[in-house]
Amino acid sequence: MNSWRIKSLDAILATAEKKSLHRSLGAFQLTMLGIGAIIGTGIFVLTAAAAQKAGPGMMFSFIVAGFVCAVAALCYSELASMVPVSGSAYTYTYAVMGELMAWMVGWALILEYAVAASAVCVGWSGYVMGLVENATGFALPEFLSAGPAWSMNGFMPVADFTHGFINLPAIVVAAAVTWLLVIGTSESAMVNAVLVCIKIVALTAFIVLSLPMINGENFTPLMPNGLFGHDGLGVIGAAASIFFAYVGFDAVSTAAEETKNPQKNVPIGLIGSLAICTIFYLLVAAGVVGTVGAQPLMVNGIAISPDSAEFVTQCRALTEAGNAPIVCSKEALAEVLRKIGFEQIGNMVGLAASIALPSVILMMIYGQTRIFFVMARDGLLPEKLADVHPKFKTPWKVTIFTGIFVAIAGAFFPVGQLADISNSGTLFAFFMVAIAVLVLRKTDPTRHRPFKTPLVWIVAPLAIVGTVGLYLNLPMVAKLVLPIWGAIGLLIYFAYSRGHSHVGRGLIEVHEDDKDLPPPPGTT
Ligand code: ALA
Repeated sequence: MNSWRIKSLDAILATAEKKSLHRSLGAFQLTMLGIGAIIGTGIFVLTAAAAQKAGPGMMFSFIVAGFVCAVAALCYSELASMVPVSGSAYTYTYAVMGELMAWMVGWALILEYAVAASAVCVGWSGYVMGLVENATGFALPEFLSAGPAWSMNGFMPVADFTHGFINLPAIVVAAAVTWLLVIGTSESAMVNAVLVCIKIVALTAFIVLSLPMINGENFTPLMPNGLFGHDGLGVIGAAASIFFAYVGFDAVSTAAEETKNPQKNVPIGLIGSLAICTIFYLLVAAGVVGTVGAQPLMVNGIAISPDSAEFVTQCRALTEAGNAPIVCSKEALAEVLRKIGFEQIGNMVGLAASIALPSVILMMIYGQTRIFFVMARDGLLPEKLADVHPKFKTPWKVTIFTGIFVAIAGAFFPVGQLADISNSGTLFAFFMVAIAVLVLRKTDPTRHRPFKTPLVWIVAPLAIVGTVGLYLNLPMVAKLVLPIWGAIGLLIYFAYSRGHSHVGRGLIEVHEDDKDLPPPPGTT
């Protein structure tokens, strides 16, 4: 037994071979799947926070974040095409760097998927509440429609309940999506395609209406907070946050088992969906900056963090005075259109976001349940968690467990902080994938690689530097969560998982027990 407890790549591939999943997806459906998981709260909501962090320079932030994702996606593609099985970065790491590292990646992926789902729940809440208020004049009291603002006092997190206590709409949507997953609802490829179209039409309408109204003066000062501001401000800080807008492309790799010719189509799906989204994001960002301006709110000439209680207080006062800037908006794109005279189309964009965002939540919670499922199946989490419901044929225990976690995080945290925390986990997972590609090139150079990362000795190091660089520019709260979360993970690993691990107990198994589970959303 290898002391690193590496799960043999051959055993993993045998698992994939044995499974009789129907391979039906082509490059086009995979790209649609990727876009379905990518476009969401990031562009619809977090554009406002990015503007507060970087000002008009947020356009560069979109480019930087998109670039880091692109190099990470190229690394993902090599592993996803070689190891076309579920579990994503967790499985790749198991095969390359062994169990402990795989556990850490799986543990970090909880931040990526579950916390991202919470962020999208909160983003959805902002859009739906905005829509309801515009249509009926009814507004839920602030303390029921937003969580508290969190800050750090030294190493102690402190909650400020002045402008929020609990986000009820976020809980409702998390519960509804969890219920759909428990009863085995799997969004069909057709439904996913329709939702992707709704999002693309909404973003296209935004671009077409806003770009002709651009005023060059809105672009100066271009970078009011510089490249590297304090506590996650500045262009790179905004890139670290807006990175969230690109997260989700790895959903494509989780569908590798359902893909025809995954060797060719998975890389196309990953990179194609990312490229399309990057173009949309840049045009949308230019539209926001150019029409309504994107200058940050300042106190004594210094920009404040969009997650701070001070920021919420200023925004509230400006909203009451009727002249809140776009950085204050919880539904940025709809708000921009309303401000430039397209009130009804703004509402339609809000409606599009409200309809489409739950599908992003569905994909994220689904992704999380499958990672828990695979980890439980490997013995690293209690195997009971992987129980499949006799009637619905779904891993209902992990699904409910995940849903509760998502609802609680969505209820008590603001969207920007959730996205940043999610980013810290995702950046770690991408970092490990980039290392795994290089390690495997050295340790197993002759293995057939259906897709080879081009210029791997440049691309993977760029992914490594990019992920570390973005992580270091996250706000302090998000930066601290990863090591604290990691330390809790290590404790659990040594207290429980190491002793229960199937690989550790010498069991090499070929699993077919998930073949009856509902397929990934958007794939059938
Ligand atoms: N990229 C996804 C979103 O922006 C997670 O909602």
